[in-house]
Amino acid sequence: MRVSVIGTGHVGLTTAACLAHVGHEVLGVDDDAEKVATIGRGDVPFHEPGLLDLLREGLDTGRLRVSTDLGQAATHAEVAFVCVGTPTKPNGEADLIQVERVATIVARNLDGYTVVAEKSTVPVETGQWVRRTMVTEAPAGAEFDVASTPEFLREGRAVQDTLEPDRIVIGASSDRAVHRLREVYRPIVDRTGCPVVVTDLATAELIKHSSNAFLATKISFVNSIAQICERTGADVEVVAQAMGLDPRIGPAFLRAGIGYGGSCFPKDVRAYRYRAEQLGVDFEVLAAVERVNEARIPAFIDKIRSVLWNLADKRVAVWGLAFKPETDDLRHAPALEVIEGLRAGGAQVVAHDPVAMPAAKHLLPDVSFSEDAYEAARRAHCLVICTEWPEYAAADLARLREVMARPVIVDGRNLLHPEDAAAAGFVYASVGRPTVGTAGR
Ligand code: UGA
Repeated sequence: MRVSVIGTGHVGLTTAACLAHVGHEVLGVDDDAEKVATIGRGDVPFHEPGLLDLLREGLDTGRLRVSTDLGQAATHAEVAFVCVGTPTKPNGEADLIQVERVATIVARNLDGYTVVAEKSTVPVETGQWVRRTMVTEAPAGAEFDVASTPEFLREGRAVQDTLEPDRIVIGASSDRAVHRLREVYRPIVDRTGCPVVVTDLATAELIKHSSNAFLATKISFVNSIAQICERTGADVEVVAQAMGLDPRIGPAFLRAGIGYGGSCFPKDVRAYRYRAEQLGVDFEVLAAVERVNEARIPAFIDKIRSVLWNLADKRVAVWGLAFKPETDDLRHAPALEVIEGLRAGGAQVVAHDPVAMPAAKHLLPDVSFSEDAYEAARRAHCLVICTEWPEYAAADLARLREVMARPVIVDGRNLLHPEDAAAAGFVYASVGRPTVGTAGR
């Protein structure tokens, strides 16, 4: 089928490359000319495992093309996926101006029956506005349907999540639109047998916001338990593990730490709460989820102080900058806030991240960087772990202890085993577990 994907961020570019991979003729469109040029040359403008190969395959076979011409997105497509940004306004509301602009231009350029499908995360009833806009802007007699088919991919696993999804959701009001979207997804469904939920537009929109908000709730829930563990000597890892053995709860997203970040959860929890308020619903749980998450970093800075005393005159190594492993995305990355807190206290910070350092250098002018994790820790009074990269979990603790000025580790992601750290001679503080080890040399 002929498919357009409008917006070439994480969701857009992954969707475009994966749909080309499964056999569709895909046009990726973005108004950022530099980004389109980069993608057209066969480069991915961000770190995402596996995406580069798929992009190059798409360009080589000719099944994937890119353009800055939004009008072409309409003329090319039987289905046009809208994957533009929906950032947060200062009041928490989702800013939908890009969605409206896309709807307007696509409507004016319609050429034959087209399904315009939202993939961006949008508040419930956005689809109605898209439809109204298109009815006003489309030429007389133009045929189209508006649908919602939310994306559930995670950064760092975007390709796998797209090609092997847990579920596909199609929200549309006409059988014709549902049929078209089923055709787009058919190669993926045939190969994986994943369930397809067919529903109306508003329900599809709500599925997406509700899924992200529920996952964020699990994280804030376990982080509240971690606080209780810290005051009672209990171990949050064991509590979470045993809770997760109950199939009604499940083990996923119960990892305690310095909280959720990224381009989705902080934005979506806020926007969902705002939309609920607009609709006269007091979604109090979400306010608490946000409050708990925002309190994570000050509590973590206090924890660092509790093992280091003053921050001034201290050299602190930070391992991990990205908001999660396998990405270079620094949007709402907890590590950046931790570094801000360390700097405000007067600490000198040396940072390491396997892929996010080039992007971080622009954001953190007062921080030194080291290409080698152990060099970052050299002469440090404390090592702070902010992102759970697998290579940090496999760190050589004896080597680390050799290079550091003081053997102190504060682990914001519970990545190391307390017994291992203590055995290697470290004072080791983590989240929701007792601090182990004795004062350093
Ligand atoms: C999230 C959802 O997981 C995807 O399903 C969704 O499609 C995506 O948002 C989106 O709306 O586009 P993503 O933000 O890429 O995906 O990353 P997650 O793996 O969900 O992690 C989000 C944050 O939660 C990270 O900072 C991570 O460190 C934190 N987290 C996650 C925890 O603190 N504890 C956990 O147990 C799990």
